[in-house]
Amino acid sequence: MNVLLVGNGGREHAIAWKLSQSKKLSNLFIAPGNPGTAKLGKNIPITDYNDLLNFAKDQKIGLVVIGPEAPLADGLADMFEAAGIKAFGPSKDAARLEADKAFSKQLMRSCSISTAEGRVFDRFEDAKAYIASRDEPVVVKASGLAAGKGVFVCDDPADGINAAEKIMCDKIFGEAGNLVVVEDKLLGQEASILAFVDGHNIYVMESAQDHKPIGDGDTGPNTGGMGAYSPAPIVTEKLLSQINKEVLVPIVDGMNRSGSPYKGVLYAGLMLTAGGPRVLEFNVRFGDPETQPILMRLKSDLLEVMLAVCGGRLDEITLKWDQRPAVCIVMASGGYPGDYEKGKVITGIEEAEELGDVVVFHAGTALKDGKVVTSGGRVLGVTALGDTIENAQRQAYKAVDKIKFEGAYYRKDIAAKAITRVK
Ligand code: AMP
Ligand code: GLY
Repeated sequence: MNVLLVGNGGREHAIAWKLSQSKKLSNLFIAPGNPGTAKLGKNIPITDYNDLLNFAKDQKIGLVVIGPEAPLADGLADMFEAAGIKAFGPSKDAARLEADKAFSKQLMRSCSISTAEGRVFDRFEDAKAYIASRDEPVVVKASGLAAGKGVFVCDDPADGINAAEKIMCDKIFGEAGNLVVVEDKLLGQEASILAFVDGHNIYVMESAQDHKPIGDGDTGPNTGGMGAYSPAPIVTEKLLSQINKEVLVPIVDGMNRSGSPYKGVLYAGLMLTAGGPRVLEFNVRFGDPETQPILMRLKSDLLEVMLAVCGGRLDEITLKWDQRPAVCIVMASGGYPGDYEKGKVITGIEEAEELGDVVVFHAGTALKDGKVVTSGGRVLGVTALGDTIENAQRQAYKAVDKIKFEGAYYRKDIAAKAITRVK
């Protein structure tokens, strides 16, 4: 089968890496892809949706896999399905679970899913009055898509008002800030639970934990994610079954009731509070960088799983996992998540992979004069397996040590929480 994968990040490199191992795969095309995916298939420089559809028809694509949230929210899966081409990823309506936090919050409430208390505002003056009336810290979120940067955790109400003003009046995220959600700040450790969903059946993947803030010890502004590990020891079997029963099953039922059945990967971002797991957000796609360690541990054929999701046959599938933990360390451009320079030559990727059980997933990279250079904030996801989480961490940092580019920045404490926990 010919497969077209849409996207160009570390997540898409990991998906391409796994798909390329499938016996069912004939040709893999990645649009637009990155220098990492170019080694696994053919990168296609197309981003226009109609051109993508025409390309898929010409190349007899049997499955299109849509990586990022933006094309899903734009209805790209619907476009392919309407043309009779299977698409892995939810419809435009179902993608509102991520693309419209106000909708998502209301649906959670109607399904009695535990989440932070929150309110939705369409006027800055109302948001301001509400925040000013509160003594506790608040979290202010743009309702629409903001590339992982639309959330402000504010311990001081003045910061909350400032965030709402930037989102609603200065429109720093454009139309995505027409509505804001203001919610209580929750305390606890975070975990990411990803599941394959085929409309009815749910298959929960191995757990993972992301590291959102830029600095060691979870300090500084939030990023797209600075590293991840899988499994997350904090997510016990018991907790996982509670999350399945109290979060995943009700939301999938709720989507069916709302007339938008959910198909694809459903990602629940959770805060594990003293009072139990609470949903921070739903994402409608694989997480980045959680996908890198999760897929490195997947032993089954990803293409078969994706086809089962599209066909509503997930109940016929069993997934096999490598029991060894995996750790992914994101190497970023100096200055990220603020301004940073691009075009820095990267060396040492092959030496890192020669260490064994290491895959260096490309994210913000480009080819220039035959050399791999930096081209984005998050540049590489250096991912390693180990027989223990400590060994996976050690191997991943050893690999990071081999890779050089000017201004390279990475957190030094990825997976430290998991190690303290298992000790
Ligand atoms: P979101 O995109 O909604 O997951 O938010 C991004 C990050 O902001 C999360 O991973 C959390 O670290 C943080 N966050 C979001 N909502 C809350 C909340 N209610 N309480 C505490 N932290 C939050
Ligand atoms: N790692 C967080 C996300 O993918 O949204």
